[in-house]
Amino acid sequence: MSRDLQGEISRARDLLARAKSVVVLTGAGISAESGVPTFRGEGGLWKSFRADDLATPQAFARDPRLVWEWYAWRRSEVSRCLPNAGHLALASFALERAAATGASGGDASTASVTLVTQNVDGLHERAARDAAGTSDPAPALPLALHGSLFRDRCSRCGRATPALATVDTSSVDALPRCQRCGALMRPAVVWFGEALEAGVVARAFGAARTAEACLVVGTSSLVYPAASLPIATLEHGGSVVEVNPEATPLSDLAAVSVMQKAGDALPVLLSGKGLRV
Ligand code: OAD
Repeated sequence: MSRDLQGEISRARDLLARAKSVVVLTGAGISAESGVPTFRGEGGLWKSFRADDLATPQAFARDPRLVWEWYAWRRSEVSRCLPNAGHLALASFALERAAATGASGGDASTASVTLVTQNVDGLHERAARDAAGTSDPAPALPLALHGSLFRDRCSRCGRATPALATVDTSSVDALPRCQRCGALMRPAVVWFGEALEAGVVARAFGAARTAEACLVVGTSSLVYPAASLPIATLEHGGSVVEVNPEATPLSDLAAVSVMQKAGDALPVLLSGKGLRV
């Protein structure tokens, strides 16, 4: 390991250990080591597929069967993946801090660690349950800005349900329909051109504005409003720590950039981080 990297790691560890409140923003890169493809890098989904054909309300109106086929494929791929050392380190960090402060993970305005993700793969949720064991996983559950691959909702009335175990994509007539209003169900993810859920955004930005540190992991920092989250922390006097093997538009604003994979960096950055009050 280079001396530069060693220095960045030790500065990041200190900064995170000293911060009484931390907001964490993750992107596709944290799940790369679990085998989930990212969107924009080498092998990224948007290199082989067109978002306009698959991830917009217009695409669903045009060809709901094709859109469902793609999401059914992604569900089955992601279901085979497991949380990695990065997800588990973050979950343990959030649970340990919550235990130390007595904070409830359900209230992002008081939690000492608030986890916010752009990912729809459910791996933070699985890591939270794995790390919590028989305890309450709530402090380690993320605010999921872009929704979830594992929920469905009605394309007309919005009724949400857990995802069906299998979706028959053989014809439009076979696609799942809302039991309340009869319209087509769709995956409960946020598509390009759609608004994020207001309550989730408010809680995430509330936490970012009061955080002493924002830890940003595995995102290209190109998609808004998620990319504004660390800026909200900076504007309120906090610091940014970035973990990403590549430089991003955020790197120059970060107090520390750890240019490593999440699964290597996070266990080292976050281990044994009791609160120094
Ligand atoms: P991207 O694919 O744009 O960026 C992934 C980032 O992860 C890149 O900066 C990589 O350098 C980094 N990375 C790759 N492997 C890594 C590893 N092992 N550890 C840490 N970092 C690693 O994904 P996002 O920024 O998450 O939105 O994309 C944001 C949004 O764009 C997604 O939520 C999705 C997409 O279109 C919607 O679908 C609405």
